[in-house]
Amino acid sequence: MSSGSDLSRLEEILLNEVAEAADLSALEAVRVSALGKKGRVSELMTTLGKLPPEERKGFGATVNTLKSKISDALDARRTTLEAAALSARLANEREDVTLPVRMGPELQGRIHPVSQVLDECIEIFADLGFEVAEGPDIETDELNFTKLNIPAEHPARQEHDTFYFHPKPDGSRLLLRTHTSPVQIRAMQSRKPPIRIIAPGRVYRCDSDQTHTPMFHQIEGLVIDEATHMGHLKWVLEEFAKAFFEVDNVTMRFRASHFPFTEPSMEVDIDASAIGKPGQWLEILGCGMVHPNVLANCGLDPEKYQGFAFGMGLDRITMLKYGLPDLRAFFSADLRWLRHYGFSLLDQPTLGGGLST
Ligand code: PHE
Repeated sequence: MSSGSDLSRLEEILLNEVAEAADLSALEAVRVSALGKKGRVSELMTTLGKLPPEERKGFGATVNTLKSKISDALDARRTTLEAAALSARLANEREDVTLPVRMGPELQGRIHPVSQVLDECIEIFADLGFEVAEGPDIETDELNFTKLNIPAEHPARQEHDTFYFHPKPDGSRLLLRTHTSPVQIRAMQSRKPPIRIIAPGRVYRCDSDQTHTPMFHQIEGLVIDEATHMGHLKWVLEEFAKAFFEVDNVTMRFRASHFPFTEPSMEVDIDASAIGKPGQWLEILGCGMVHPNVLANCGLDPEKYQGFAFGMGLDRITMLKYGLPDLRAFFSADLRWLRHYGFSLLDQPTLGGGLST
């Protein structure tokens, strides 16, 4: 049986051991020998049963107090030792900040031109006040078509060469989105105007030849508020084109076109002399003012809200900007191609630093 004075003696010994532990591993050894399963404090508890019942309660409480004193002391000492270990490291370790970047394995990796161009686009549109929104590649018929004012049996559905999944028992079908426009719907359903988003991503069409691949990339844009008009649309696209192609002036041609989800609708070509190919118009996107039916389908009052949308081919503008001749090479996973056309990790596009320099 341990008397009160034995306990205070033990306390003194243990506190002393804690104070004298010179490093973290010595401290851990003290902890185990005091509070571990077979430690000196823990063992005291096993003697509890042998005490006369009237002494048990008091003894238990005393041992518990001892336990928490020791563990507080251990914590405090650990904090001190850790701080000392850190200061010692800081005092010893030296970095030569003037060393050049070492060509480690990360630097041999290459960023795919489409990823690079996506980063460039995000940088430009972020600067114009757009935020990035996303939607899934596997979409519902409803969001990819119906809500975009393309009802069942509408001829536009045929034009889209859609990859459908097997119909579900209720007759509804999932599909691989044929454009990024369903993200417009998701955005209008989930946020309140003013809305200013871009939505980049993969899209799929059952189509394959020299200039078409079954999967390609688009970047959607959507602006909705109470007063946005076509002048804003043209200005945004022009600012984008100038920043993207890194030229002072870009001549753009807006051709009347048709999309069920915009009215009026336009296709936009740029005068390729801006990128060193005089005499050519190159189509880069489709756009228009969001159709009132689409606004209404998303619960927005077309009398109150209006805005524009555009959908641009990312692969297309990548080919134009970086002079890549063959779209299929984008997806052939040929390392030689990637090493040649890819970008270094250190080439982070910024407006301040210049997008591509
Ligand atoms: N979704 C259209 C397409 O894929 C492009 C577009 C987007 C047109 C937004 C108008 C407005 O062809």
